[in-house]
Amino acid sequence: MKHQMVLILDFGGQYDQLIARRVREAKVYCEILPYNTSIERIKSLNPKGIILTGGPASVNEEGAPFCDRELFELGIPVLGICYGMQLMSVMLGGEVAEARQREYGKTDIRLDTSSALFYGIEPNTYSWMSHTYYVSRMPDGFRATASSASCPVAAMEDKKRKLYGVQFHPEVEHTPEGKTMLNNFLYKVCGCAGDWEMSSFIESAVEEIRGKVKDGSVLCALSGGIDSSVAALLAHKAVGDRLTCIFVDHGLLRKNEADQVENVFRNRFNMNFIRIDAADRFLGRLAGVTDPEQKRKIIGEEFIRVFEEQAKKLGKIDYLVQGTIYPDVVESGVGNSAVIKSHHNVGGLPVNIEFKGILEPLKALFKDEVRKVGRELKLPEEIVARQPFPGPGLAVRIIGEISRERLEIVREADHIFREEIEKAGLAKEISQYFAVLTSLKSVGVMGDERTYDNVVALRAVVTTHFMTANWARIPYDVLERASSRIVNEVKGVNRVVYDITTKPPATIEWE
Ligand code: XMP
Repeated sequence: MKHQMVLILDFGGQYDQLIARRVREAKVYCEILPYNTSIERIKSLNPKGIILTGGPASVNEEGAPFCDRELFELGIPVLGICYGMQLMSVMLGGEVAEARQREYGKTDIRLDTSSALFYGIEPNTYSWMSHTYYVSRMPDGFRATASSASCPVAAMEDKKRKLYGVQFHPEVEHTPEGKTMLNNFLYKVCGCAGDWEMSSFIESAVEEIRGKVKDGSVLCALSGGIDSSVAALLAHKAVGDRLTCIFVDHGLLRKNEADQVENVFRNRFNMNFIRIDAADRFLGRLAGVTDPEQKRKIIGEEFIRVFEEQAKKLGKIDYLVQGTIYPDVVESGVGNSAVIKSHHNVGGLPVNIEFKGILEPLKALFKDEVRKVGRELKLPEEIVARQPFPGPGLAVRIIGEISRERLEIVREADHIFREEIEKAGLAKEISQYFAVLTSLKSVGVMGDERTYDNVVALRAVVTTHFMTANWARIPYDVLERASSRIVNEVKGVNRVVYDITTKPPATIEWE
C-alpha cells in the first residue's frame, strides 16, 4: 500500500524533525528532503502538500538557500514556516526587511480565523517567534492573516494558489494552537486522508520484506534494544523460520538483561535465536584498557568479529536486517552535514560476510513510531519502553579499568538504583537513569572499622532528544533509599554521590 505523502523541504532549521513528527502524529506520512531537491524528483513523489522549513540564513544575503521557483506553480499547497515564508515572499515578488529588534519567544498574535489555516482557533492566541527579518511587503495575491505587535505579517495566504506562510513556529509546544494549524493545513488545505497508521505500516513492511527475500534466508544482529528488536519482529512475521537472530552477549549488559532478551525472543516469539556468551573474549581484550575511545573501538571490532564467525557457521545468508531508523538517514538540507549511515554495517562497522542485500524496515520511522509498532507486535513493555543503553554497555560506566569484580559492583548498584526509581513511580518521568563506578576510592567507616572503598555515582537525566539534558530532581528520600541500599548491599562501595551536571557541559554518560 502506498501512503499519501507530504514533503518537507529542509532549510536547516532546528525544528525540522519536529515538523515531520507533528505531521506523522496527524497520521500523514512525510519525508524530509534537502531544500534544493530537483523539481522532477518533487513531482515524481506526488506530494499532497509541501512544507518549507525555517533556517538560519537570511533570504536577502548572498548565497541564501533557494528552492526551485516552479514549486509554487505546481498547484500543490505550500506552507512556508519562518524562513520558508520569507523565502516564498521574496521568490514571488514581495520583500523582506530586517527588524530593529529580534522577536524571540512567546508572542501574542491576532489571527484572522476566516483563513483555513486558523479554522476553529480563537482569534487571540500566542505563538513562538524566533526571527530578525520579517515580510515587509507581501507578493501580489497575498493577504495578511495574522499579526503581532512588531510583525504586521505574522501569517499570510494566497488562497487561490494554495500558498500559506507563518512567521512563527507552529511545530513547537510553545505555540499552543500549532497542532491545530498544522492539522488544518494537512486536512483542510491539502485534503489529506490521514492514512498513516502503524497497523497498515506493519502490513506493507511485511509484504515488502517477503517480496524481496522470497524463499531466501535472513540474519539479524539483535541487541535487545528497541530498534533491532522491532526490525527482527517484522522480519520474523515476514519469513518466519528463515530468520536467524544472533545475540552477542559481550558481558557488559545490565543485570538479568541477556536472560530477558533470550526469554522474549526464543521462548515468547519462538525465533531461531543464537546467544553467544562472549564475555571472556571481550573482557580479555579490554584488560588494562582505560581510555574511553579505545574501549569503544575494541568493543565495536570484537562485536563484528564474533558476529561474522557465527554468520559464517550458518552458511549462506541472503539478507541482513537492521534497525536503522529515520533520524539516522535524514539528509540535511544545509551545509555539508548530509550524514547517511554507511549501509553495510552492523553497529556502525562494516561486516565481512557475503549477502545479497540489506533490509531496513524501520528506516522511515521515528523512535516513537518504532515503539508503537513494537507494541502493536506485542513486544513486551520491558523492551518497548527500555531506556537507551550505549552499545559498549557498562564498559563506559566503569571509569578506568574493567574487571569482572568492578562489573559486578556497577551492575548491582545500577540494579538497585533502577529498582528504587521504578518503585517510586518515577520511571516514566526520567529519560535515563543509571549508576557509574568511578575510579575513586574514599575513606569511610562501617561498624567500628575504617574502610577504603569505591565511590559510585548516580546519574539521572530528563531530556527529549538527548542532545541536551537536565539532571532529574529526584526526591531526597528516593536518593536516600538508593544510597543506603547500595552501600549496604553492594560489597566494595562505601560512598554514593549524585551527579548534578547538565548537558552541556557534561555528557550524559561519564565516558
Ligand atoms: P552522551 O553521553 O553523549 O549520550 O550525552 C547521549 C546518549 O547516547 C547514548 N550513548 C551511546 N549509545 N553507543 C550507543 O549506542 C555509544 O557508544 C553511546 N554513548 C552514549 C547515551 O546513553 C545517551 O542516551
